[in-house]
Amino acid sequence: MEHIDEVLNDAWVGKEIEVRGWVHRERGSNKMKFILLRDSTNYVQCVFNRNDFEKIWNEIDHVQVETSIIVRGELKKDERAPTGYEVRVKSYEIVGKSENFPITKDQSIEFLADNRHLWLRSSKMMAILKIRSTVFGAIHEYFRGEGFYEYQSPIFQAVQCEGGSELFSVNYFDRKDVFLAQTWQLYAEPAIFSLEKIYTIAPSFRAERSKTSRHLTEYWHAEMEVAWADFDTIINYGEACVKHIVKRVLEKNERELKILERDTSKLELAVKKPFVRMTYTDALKVLDEKFGMKIEWGKDLRTIEEEKLTTLYDVPIICTRYPKKVKAFYMIEDPENPDVVLGVDFLAPDGYGEIIGGSQREHDIEKIKARLVEAGEDPSQYEFYLDTRRYGSVPHGGFGLGVERVVRWICGLDTIKDAIPFPRTIERYKP
Ligand code: 4AD
Ligand code: MG
Repeated sequence: MEHIDEVLNDAWVGKEIEVRGWVHRERGSNKMKFILLRDSTNYVQCVFNRNDFEKIWNEIDHVQVETSIIVRGELKKDERAPTGYEVRVKSYEIVGKSENFPITKDQSIEFLADNRHLWLRSSKMMAILKIRSTVFGAIHEYFRGEGFYEYQSPIFQAVQCEGGSELFSVNYFDRKDVFLAQTWQLYAEPAIFSLEKIYTIAPSFRAERSKTSRHLTEYWHAEMEVAWADFDTIINYGEACVKHIVKRVLEKNERELKILERDTSKLELAVKKPFVRMTYTDALKVLDEKFGMKIEWGKDLRTIEEEKLTTLYDVPIICTRYPKKVKAFYMIEDPENPDVVLGVDFLAPDGYGEIIGGSQREHDIEKIKARLVEAGEDPSQYEFYLDTRRYGSVPHGGFGLGVERVVRWICGLDTIKDAIPFPRTIERYKP
């Protein structure tokens, strides 16, 4: 038994092969039947000649899309075949029948979403899922290569970290103060006192009420936290990590990027060129100068402004030093300007939006408490976290990378929903 991609080369021409997979397309006449067979590696056209199968022609004639089948025959070269070769079938076995597969051409987005479990078989989803797999692999490879330990935080959490309004509460034996993780951060910081450099890839949950092309309620979050790190060190890890991910996808997924019709020239630039670095205050100036957009200092950048900004550059933008009041309680004040924090967002080109958020962490326990109170939180709930500042505190920081945000950008997808197998949003939690 061979995988289809293994045999699609001249060395196999004239040889007997055996392949198995699913009928991707089929067409026929009363003399011939053409099946485009798909497996996880590629497609190959299989040709059934009626003369060879006269007695069972009825069965062959009725083979429908998504039937699983094993096919044996001789491999021929044929320029007209979709992948340049075809199998002249000598024998076959139907493994699982398929009748009236619901997905046919030109169906609505809604219909495809309802049938997501079947739509995963499409060329588009196959390409995206392969790239997604490369991205996960590249993240592990990057952090392990840099000497990070993989570390896991709880998903059931009793504190908020990224804003109480986007928390999912869980019915935890009738308790009301248990939430799904928005981030690993508050449970990661305690662990750097043990392991120093840690990372994870885990689900995060945000009760996002907005319907946008960049928000999911459940997404995969690659996060890292490092002891003894200053702000630039954290940013440099982020830039190198993104470059490594894109590089690996360009190496491993040329075919998939082609299927998705992704222009790869910009992705190549993201590997080769340094990312653009600017402060929030610079960003406001640029937006004013280039687009006449006047944003009051202190207001967070909105999607529209981020989009405009990223159209000016062909690589991601690393935007730093945001106003303290728009960022989370744990971000450290800039020693040179207490109105801003050493927080950073990475913005992907062409309006794909924020792919990384991170910061150096505040180590002054009184400042953290004050900012928790400002955020409407009760600091006594954070005692375990505050202990990180009581016993041997060190400069440290980290970031979180939204895996689907990165997959969406790399694949050039209209919506983040296609960057995950079963997207969860405010209006969809099935199938
Ligand atoms: O910017 P965020 O909220 O930062 C944190 O959670 C920090 N605690 C991370 C850290 O320092 N360890 O989220 C990080 C990233 C964002 O940049 C974005 O890429 C992604 O997570 N993200 C989402 N992705 C999909 N759907 C959503 N609703 C997302 N919210 C954030
Ligand atoms: Mg953010």
